[in-house]
Amino acid sequence: MRVHVALTPADAVGLALGGWAAVVVDVLRATTTVVAACAAGCVRIIPVADPRAARSRAALLPPGSALLAGERDGENIPEFPLGNSPLEYTPERVRGRTIVLTTTNGTAAMLSAASAAVAAVAALTNAAAAADWALAQGRDVAVLCSGDNGAFALEDAVCAGLVVSRVAAAAPADLSDAAVAARGLGEYYGPRIRDLRHASRWASRLARLGRAADIDACFLRDTTDMVPVIQAGVVVPGPGVSPPVPAPMQRAGKTP
Ligand code: MLT
Repeated sequence: MRVHVALTPADAVGLALGGWAAVVVDVLRATTTVVAACAAGCVRIIPVADPRAARSRAALLPPGSALLAGERDGENIPEFPLGNSPLEYTPERVRGRTIVLTTTNGTAAMLSAASAAVAAVAALTNAAAAADWALAQGRDVAVLCSGDNGAFALEDAVCAGLVVSRVAAAAPADLSDAAVAARGLGEYYGPRIRDLRHASRWASRLARLGRAADIDACFLRDTTDMVPVIQAGVVVPGPGVSPPVPAPMQRAGKTP
């Protein structure tokens, strides 16, 4: 099995991913938010390029079924009910809903995975489960880092490295140089997440924007086995965990 990491969006351009399993990473904060939304029971997340596309896409959906969500440069989008904080994506807010999401870097990376044979979403919160998902596909594995406005983002490379480490520990793997580099970063920062928080430029910017709680939530490791998968450009909850079912529905014996 070949294992590669696209450390920036430019590295992913031109990759021939047909036949590969792709894993998309944007630790701060888009893929952490997507994992949280799926674990909270949303039906699907539709990643789109920009706020205008989000409004157009939502208008095609049944009234009341979609929630507009996202950010630009870390700030919420005016009139969108949800931002890009994983803490907002509670079962009360998103269960049973479709989310139309646009973020500065993360949603573009999700869309860039369209050419892969299969694709999923990873964050620090589900890195081990995402690696297990990748292994289970029985394909070459490419981790696509969202980066920061086209540039390298340390926290994405660390998460990619943790996925690479676990994949390579479980099966014979031919690692690209980028995968070796990411693995080294994952092995260094994995046990030193507090240092990662201080070293990450985007974490510093989010902290200045008053988003410290989001950083805490994004820098938790392996808190869920939810692995959202990307099918035909739409993210859907994977089989990792069952969405929480409210007590009245459990009593009535209904399915969600
Ligand atoms: C992105 O897609 O660039 C991010 O998720 C930015 C953020 O909201 O932290």
